[in-house]
Amino acid sequence: MSTFAPNSPEARDVAYLVHPYVDLRAHERDGPLVITEGHGVWVRDNRGREYLEGLAGLWCVALGFGERRLVEAARRQMERLPYTHTFAGRSSEPVIDLAERLVRLAPAPLAKVFFVNSGSEAVDTAIKLVWYYNNARGRPEKKRIIARRRAYHGVTVAAGHLTGLPYVREGFDLPMSHLFFHVTPPSLYREGRPGESPAAFAARLAGELDALIRALGPETVAAFVAEPVMGAGGVIVPPAEYFPAVQEVLHAHDVLMIADEVITGFGRTGRMWGSETFGIRPDLMTVAKQLSSGYQPIAAVLMSEEIYRVLADRSHELGTFGTGFTWGGHPVPAAVALETLRIYEEDRILDHVRAVAPRFRARLERLADHPLVGEARGVGLLGAVELVRDKADGTPFAPEVKAAVRAVGHCLAHGLILRPLPGDAVGICPPLVITEDEIDTLFDRLEAALDDTARTLAAGH
Ligand SMILES: Cc1ncc(COP(=O)(O)O)c(C=O)c1O
Repeated sequence: MSTFAPNSPEARDVAYLVHPYVDLRAHERDGPLVITEGHGVWVRDNRGREYLEGLAGLWCVALGFGERRLVEAARRQMERLPYTHTFAGRSSEPVIDLAERLVRLAPAPLAKVFFVNSGSEAVDTAIKLVWYYNNARGRPEKKRIIARRRAYHGVTVAAGHLTGLPYVREGFDLPMSHLFFHVTPPSLYREGRPGESPAAFAARLAGELDALIRALGPETVAAFVAEPVMGAGGVIVPPAEYFPAVQEVLHAHDVLMIADEVITGFGRTGRMWGSETFGIRPDLMTVAKQLSSGYQPIAAVLMSEEIYRVLADRSHELGTFGTGFTWGGHPVPAAVALETLRIYEEDRILDHVRAVAPRFRARLERLADHPLVGEARGVGLLGAVELVRDKADGTPFAPEVKAAVRAVGHCLAHGLILRPLPGDAVGICPPLVITEDEIDTLFDRLEAALDDTARTLAAGH
C-alpha cells in the first residue's frame, strides 16, 4: 500500500517475479532470433525454421501476418500524403476518420481521441491530461495515481512508475516520484486467503484501495490505472466482482478510472473491449497494439467529453495545449489502423474469437492437470499457465531455475513462440484469426514443451 521501491516489502513479496527477459550480455552471446517473414499465425526465421506465433508478436498482430489489405492501405496513404501532423489546428483525413470510428466503438461515452506512437506514450499522456484537468479545475493537490503491483503500463518515466514490476525499475532510478502508488493485484491464486471466495477477495481489494485513498487523502488522489486483464505481469484475470467494487470506491472519492486497453482492446477478451468484459466504465482509455494489428506504430488516449471540455477551456486560457509528438497523428499508421478496424468489422473478427475461444479455453483448462502447472487461466484468446515447483501448495520455483524461460525455450524447439512472464507464467496470446486446428497445434506443442521442461528439471539440468 505504498510506493513500490525496489527494496520495499512489496518488492520482496514478489521477489519470485524475477524478470524473464534476456540480459544484454546473454543477447550478445546468443544473438537474436531473426524472424524474416510471416503468413497467418506462422512466422519463419533466417534459418528457414517455422514457428506458430503464439504471442502475436508482442500481443498485437491480431490479423496475422501478410494481410494484404493493410499493406495496400499503407501504400495508398504513402503515395497520397506520407506525412502531416496534428499540431496547431492541422489534421488529416485518416486521423479524423479513425478518431470518429474509435469514439463510436468506445465502451463508454468517450468523446475525444489524442493520438500518440506507443502504449507508454498513451499512458504518459493520460497522466498528463489528468494533471492538467485537475489544475484547470483548481485542484492542484489532486495528482496522485494508483496502479497495481504486477501491472505493466510501459517504460517511459511516468508509465514506468505505474508499471508494478521490479525489472522495469531496477537500474533506472525509478521510482523518483512520490506521486505513484500500488495496491494488490487481483490474482486470487497468489493473493487470495485460504478459502476466500472471488467475491470476498474482490471486496477485500476494493477495501484496500479505499483505505489507501483515505490514508493519502482523497483530495490528493487523481486516478486509478488498470489493465482489464493484467497482461505482461502474468495474464491476471480478475474476478467478475473486482472492477465493479473498485469503481464504487473510485466514484466515492472522485477518482478517475483510466482503463489501459493496450492489450485487451479490439476483441482479445471476446468483446470489443476488456472494459466490457469486466464491467469497467473508464473516464480515459489507452489503446495501441491491435489498433493497427501491430502493422504500424500507433496508439491513442480516449477521454470523456467532460474531461475534454475542461482541457479545452484551460488551453484557451493558456493560449495553447502544450503536449504532442511529431508522429502522433501520423497519417500512414492512421490509415492502416482504420483499415484494421474495417477488417475487424467486415470479417466479423469478434464472432470468430467467440467461436474459437471455447476450444482455446478447453485446451488451457486441460493444462491445469499438468504436474508443472499451478494455475491455467485466461479469457477470450488470452491465457497463461503458471509453473510451480509444488502443485499441491503452489510453491514457486526458485527464481534462478527460470522455469518459464526454460519452458519457452522448449516451445521454440517445438516450433512455437510464447513468452515467459514474471511469476513463472507462460503467456499465450495468438493472432485473433487463429483457427481451431491451429489452437490444437499450439497447445499440442506447449504440452510437449512442458513435458520436456518437467523432464529436464527432474534430471537436474
Ligand atoms: C497494458 C499495456 N500498457 C502499456 C504498454 C506499453 O506499450 P508500448 O510498449 O507500446 O510502449 C504495454 C506494452 O506491452 C501494455 O501491455
